[in-house]
Amino acid sequence: MKKILIVGSTGQIGSELSKKLRGIYGRDNVVCGYIAPPYPDGFFEDGPTVEIDATNRQQIADAVKKHKIDAIYNMVAILSATAEKNPMLGWNVGMGALLNCLEVARELGCAVFTPSSIGAFGPGTPPNPTPQDTIQRPTTMYGVTKVAGELLSDYYFSRWGVDTRSVRFPGLISNLTQPGGGTTDYAVEIYYKAVAGEKFVCPIKQGTYMDLMYMPDALDAAVHLMEADPAKLKHRNSFNIAAMSLEPDMLYQAIKRQIPTFEMTYEVEPVKQAIAESWPDRLDDTCARDEWGWSPKFDLEAMTTDMIEVLRKKKGER
Ligand code: SER
Repeated sequence: MKKILIVGSTGQIGSELSKKLRGIYGRDNVVCGYIAPPYPDGFFEDGPTVEIDATNRQQIADAVKKHKIDAIYNMVAILSATAEKNPMLGWNVGMGALLNCLEVARELGCAVFTPSSIGAFGPGTPPNPTPQDTIQRPTTMYGVTKVAGELLSDYYFSRWGVDTRSVRFPGLISNLTQPGGGTTDYAVEIYYKAVAGEKFVCPIKQGTYMDLMYMPDALDAAVHLMEADPAKLKHRNSFNIAAMSLEPDMLYQAIKRQIPTFEMTYEVEPVKQAIAESWPDRLDDTCARDEWGWSPKFDLEAMTTDMIEVLRKKKGER
């Protein structure tokens, strides 16, 4: 039976990943590392937890030894727009957490899953479709840490045999824990505003395409990649995965079909817009499909129906 440590388990991805992994591997086999509130409902009751500052290697090592962990999911990140405001924080947290996880994994014999991102690409990358192996010269600190992280993870695999695997996540749309400081956060906020009956002011210009994905597909990707037969993996860090290439008006129209009174206007935020324009429009995910059977389930309509239903339930509307 696998024993898993999630570092950064209270964030946008971590909070849902912990539930998913506990459902698969059993509540006591998934240890959730946390550093600060807000904690998802039932966080301390749902299974084992441990306080971990991911920039402190000893704390990770202690948790791995104590719980006899064999796979670490490193979900720690400072998202793109926040990292542009404080690049040193972006570097120290992003690289610090990853290097610490890799070192602990090397010493204690664990596998490591780390998210990379569409942010690992830059303006020189072919935007549509973006091949698996292509130019990676990002212009954000977030992207710099993601490229460095991909290289470092591949290095730990080839040099030390650490079982490192990762995917380049699109912007993730979810409804349990809101993201913070990301360029693609608009695609989450738009749903919260629509269900609250409020107007949404979009910070990204109409016509700006980026890859987006619904959280259940993103969680499936992490699990399937970590369960994949290593003999079939030609790539490791990181796989392009894709579900929907969308621009703001497409999201707006999809929501409006279900909530006809919903209104959206644009007030473009220059930092986020510049980041969005430097990222691809659509990733080519052929290698993920061929090497470990990646296949997303949610399209725009299915995601929109589910998002609205879940957020209405949360609001107590039905
Ligand atoms: N969602 C991230 C961001 O916008 C991209 O991976 O920063």
